Amino acid sequence: MAIWNLGSINADMVYAVPHLPGPGETLAATGLQRFLGGKGANMSVAAARAAAHVRHLGAVGADGAWAVERLMEYGVDTRHIQQAADPTGHAIVTVDPDGENQIVIFPGANRAIPEVAVQAALSEAAAGDSLLIQNETNAQLLAARIGRDLGLRVCYAAAPFDAEAVRAVLPYLDFLVLNAVEAEQLERATGMGPGALPVRDVIVTLGAGGARYFDTKSGESRDFPAVPVMPVDTTGAGDTFTGYVLAGLDRGLPMAQAIAQAMRAAAIMVTRHGTADVIPDLKDVQAARPG
Ligand code: RIB
Repeated sequence: MAIWNLGSINADMVYAVPHLPGPGETLAATGLQRFLGGKGANMSVAAARAAAHVRHLGAVGADGAWAVERLMEYGVDTRHIQQAADPTGHAIVTVDPDGENQIVIFPGANRAIPEVAVQAALSEAAAGDSLLIQNETNAQLLAARIGRDLGLRVCYAAAPFDAEAVRAVLPYLDFLVLNAVEAEQLERATGMGPGALPVRDVIVTLGAGGARYFDTKSGESRDFPAVPVMPVDTTGAGDTFTGYVLAGLDRGLPMAQAIAQAMRAAAIMVTRHGTADVIPDLKDVQAARPG
């Protein structure tokens, strides 16, 4: 099985700051590092590190060869990444001493992925494969429709959150991941709580509170506690969680095991500074298993 991920690829410019900047404030950073990032790239790397076959669909600009090379080094199939006329996407990430962040993204090439390239790539997908999409690219709806037609497990990580974007893809989804605030916003927009959504599997992430899984077919939900750690940088932890859950399911793990493993991966991730480059590999995650 394979995971086809239509996802963003960013250069993450990560600034360490004494506190998150307020409106109108000028603030001196105490450090700057560049990482490979983008919610899409982070999820692809996480899933590849969790031993899934990952095929990334996306675009970079003429300045993005380094990002494609890095994805390849991390075990992601990059043959379906296009070169667009727009520059490669980037993100300005500020991280405070408690590990909280603020992120501004410049989408660039991530919103210039040729639809024809998405169609061509997905024509190679087979029933039983997974399709993953987020909200940092174009062509999400097209991909979701194709995914449904082909019998793929269509998964949506609803970030950055936009209720209308979720509503548009909702009829095609098998799997939805969102955080508690987003779940509330979606409920306000659709009148449906997570357990009532027309999506087979729904996970609401709760930060330090763990995650809640809704099996909408049986109507049951189950809570998964977070692994307690001292966070230094929460950037990319949610992406790591999503990539690991989908990789676990793709490799045949039961849902509970896939979620538990993903919780451990996300817990390790928040103890590291950076994004795709520091996502833990399966060996580290398995070593973190309790007793
Ligand atoms: O979720 C973290 C990611 O959000 C960063 O890597 C940044 O590029 C933005 O896409």
